Amino acid sequence: MLRLLLLLVLFLVSRSTLVDSHKESGDWSCESDPEARVAAEFSPGLVTLDGHADDWKNVDGFEFSLLPALDPHPDHEYKGGRMIVKALHDGKDVYFMLQVDGDYVYSKGDGTKCPSVALMFQVGESATYHDMGGCKESPTTCNSASCHGYEVDIMHFSIGNAVPGRLYGGNPIDNKDGTGGDRFGHLVDVYAWNPHCRNLDGISPSGNDSSAQNDWKGAWWHDSFTTHSGFVEEDSPYASAGQKGTYYFEFSRPLRTMDRLQQDVQFTIGQSSKFSVAFWYPVDGNPWHGAQHYSVSCDWVPLDISPGSSALSKGASGNSSSNAASAFALLLSVVAVCVSVFVGYWLFKSKSIPFTRIDHL
Ligand SMILES: *[C@@H]1O[C@H](CO)[C@@H](O)[C@H](O)[C@H]1NC(C)=O
Repeated sequence: MLRLLLLLVLFLVSRSTLVDSHKESGDWSCESDPEARVAAEFSPGLVTLDGHADDWKNVDGFEFSLLPALDPHPDHEYKGGRMIVKALHDGKDVYFMLQVDGDYVYSKGDGTKCPSVALMFQVGESATYHDMGGCKESPTTCNSASCHGYEVDIMHFSIGNAVPGRLYGGNPIDNKDGTGGDRFGHLVDVYAWNPHCRNLDGISPSGNDSSAQNDWKGAWWHDSFTTHSGFVEEDSPYASAGQKGTYYFEFSRPLRTMDRLQQDVQFTIGQSSKFSVAFWYPVDGNPWHGAQHYSVSCDWVPLDISPGSSALSKGASGNSSSNAASAFALLLSVVAVCVSVFVGYWLFKSKSIPFTRIDHL
C-alpha cells in the first residue's frame, strides 16, 4: 500500500515538472473554455453609461475566472473572484459591463496602484489573441504594410485620474489632434500588431494620420461608495481603503467608426466578433506592470451582435398603443374607400356628358 502511494506521488511530481518544463520551453499552450461566449442582444434604452450596474441586472453575462495572461495557470488565479462580462447594443452603439470583486484600492494619479481594465478585439483576419495580434516583425520593422492582417483594437482604462461615475474617453481636444488619446481620464483607443508594436490610434512608426479618433467612452464605480450626488476630484480617494465590494467598468462605442486605417474593429449586426478582457490589480498594494495582468481567456472569446427582429415582434404584440394605431389605420382605410367610390362616381358622371354630345353629331 505504502509503495503504491509512493509511486503515485512520484508520478504526480514527474507530471508536474513535465508541465513546468513544457511552459519554460516557451511554447504557448492554451485550453480555453469552448462554452465561453458573450451575446450583445438588441436592447435599446436599457442602460445609461454611468458606471452603475443596476440597469444591467436583467442582462445575462458570462462569468470568467481570471488567470495570469502570460502564464494561465489555475494556481495563480486572481484571488478576489471572477469577472462577469455583459454586453448589449442599441442598433447604433455597443455597450459593455465588467464586474469584478476587489477590495477598494485607489491611489490618485498612479494608475498602476489602481485596478485597470482593457478590451481587445480582432481586427485583421490573421490577428491572434496570443501576442496581441502576433505579427512577427520587430518594433523597427513593424508597420501597416509588414503587419497587414495582424491588427488588434484595444481600449485601455486606467482609473488613476478618473473620477468615479464621470465619463472619460473620446473628447474634442484629443480627437482634434487625431489620436486615440484621453488626457483627462486615460481611457484610450489603441491598436497593435504585437506587444512591442502598440500605438494610440492615429500614431504610427511610418507617420501619423490626423483622421483617427478615440471612439470609446466609459465610466467606473465601486460598491463601497456611499454618495450618488456626484463626485469631484477633491473627493479622492472617494472611499476608505480595503473595503469589500465589486468594481464596475462600463463602456460604449459606435458599432461602426470612421476609421480607414484598419485600427478599429467594426461590428456588424447579426455577426460575431472576437475579443478578450484584461484586468490589472495592485495585488498586496504592489503597483502592476503592463504585462502583469489577468485575462478572461487564453484565446479569443466570441462576441455575438444579435439582430433586433425578435425584440421588434415582441414589442408589437397587443399593447394598447399599437391597438389604437391599428384602429386608426382601419378608420383611414374606410375613409379612403369612400373617397375612391366618390371620385369614381364623379368621373363617371363628368365623362357621360361628352358621350351624349357625340350621339347628337
Ligand atoms: C506622431 O505623434 C507623436 C505623438 O503626438 C509625436 O511624438 C511624433 O513625433 C509624431 N510623428 C510624426 C512623424 O509626426
